[in-house]
Amino acid sequence: MILQKVLLKFLYGNPANPSAGELKSLAASTSRLSKMFTRERDNLSTDYLKDKNLRKAYILYFLQSNLYKIHIPLSEISLHPKGLFVKDRLRILDIGSGPGTAILGLLDFFTKSDKKPFLEFFAVDHLAENLKDTEGIFKLFKEECYHESSLQTFKSGIERINNLPAGIFDIIVLSNLLNEVAHNDPEKINTRVKLVKRLLNDFMSADGNCIIIEPALRETSREMLSVRDGLLQEGFHVYSPCLPDSNCPALENPKDWCHEDIPWEPPELIKALDKLTGLRKDSIKFSYVVIRKDSTSLSDCYGDSPFRVVSEPLISKGKMEFYICGSMGRKLIVRLDKDRSDLNRRFADLRRGDLVKFEELKDDGKRLRVEKGSSVKLLKRSDISNSK
Ligand SMILES: C[S@@+](CC[C@H](N)C(=O)[O-])C[C@H]1O[C@@H](n2cnc3c(N)ncnc32)[C@H](O)[C@@H]1O
Repeated sequence: MILQKVLLKFLYGNPANPSAGELKSLAASTSRLSKMFTRERDNLSTDYLKDKNLRKAYILYFLQSNLYKIHIPLSEISLHPKGLFVKDRLRILDIGSGPGTAILGLLDFFTKSDKKPFLEFFAVDHLAENLKDTEGIFKLFKEECYHESSLQTFKSGIERINNLPAGIFDIIVLSNLLNEVAHNDPEKINTRVKLVKRLLNDFMSADGNCIIIEPALRETSREMLSVRDGLLQEGFHVYSPCLPDSNCPALENPKDWCHEDIPWEPPELIKALDKLTGLRKDSIKFSYVVIRKDSTSLSDCYGDSPFRVVSEPLISKGKMEFYICGSMGRKLIVRLDKDRSDLNRRFADLRRGDLVKFEELKDDGKRLRVEKGSSVKLLKRSDISNSK
């Protein structure tokens, strides 16, 4: 609620809910923006957020849910064996910051965390309008968060960042940016790999993390996975969500992609906009990857080759199945109803994104089988708390 009040205060000068007329106009802009991000994506211009009404809709509708996406990679990075967040100070570079979504997400994450490094933010966007919004919202949100932090903004494209102050970064964020870069370039994957490679070489510390977040659409998610594979070929490593540090198996079948879908209780204003637009924001969907220079991976935090659940449950007569991904690649795993037991009872509760340890599985080549004697242990579940 605090976040929404901050956004309303920033946009309208007071934190009260918008009038019915204002809500109607917000709904029209939200629909327009949503269409541009989905059906009309091929024609997306590079400066659509110059439009004041679209920026308003982005801030009230998209920012409010996008902000929590970064909590998932951050909570995984916080498990790193070297305790990366115990530093006194973190330097964070957010490129394509828009209104500062990821920066607010980081502030929110550390406000709720028991680790309290000073957060030194550097926001880069090619539109001055976005940077002005970032500054205004950051100032108001910071007053509510009481988290020690600073912000500097830089107008620049990702293609030629050269005006940043000297120094390297602990975290580099590219949130919902890459799909807009080299959009119509037939070599867009190579171009994006080269850009990210240069960024990491020039600006990321040896123990730094680059968090890439993209929309959960099949096309944008697969493009992100291709960039991920390209970065691996350039000698970088994947920390999470993937457990194997090898090419993404989802790319083998053109119909597959990989994304999160995390339950979320939207604020009333989002519910009202959903009602007017026919959109639905009752869960948070996105694809992400954390890239590092060293080869530590989230699976090192758990040992024993865990698996990640990468699908919804597939339920049919007499059985339940999931796709899971781990050191054996992407696999179908099944439990026949007749094989239910106390040891494997958690199987039915699994959710996309869960990290799970299985024991005593049967591998019948085509799929893995949970039998009566197999155990299922949930290691980590990705959840979002939007209580603030
Ligand atoms: C969809 S918005 C994402 C904003 C924010 N990062 C988020 O996740 O909500 C994409 C942002 O990237 C910026 N952008 C697009 N192409 C860019 C480029 N080549 N260099 C820098 N910024 C760019 C746009 O101006 C816009 O602010």
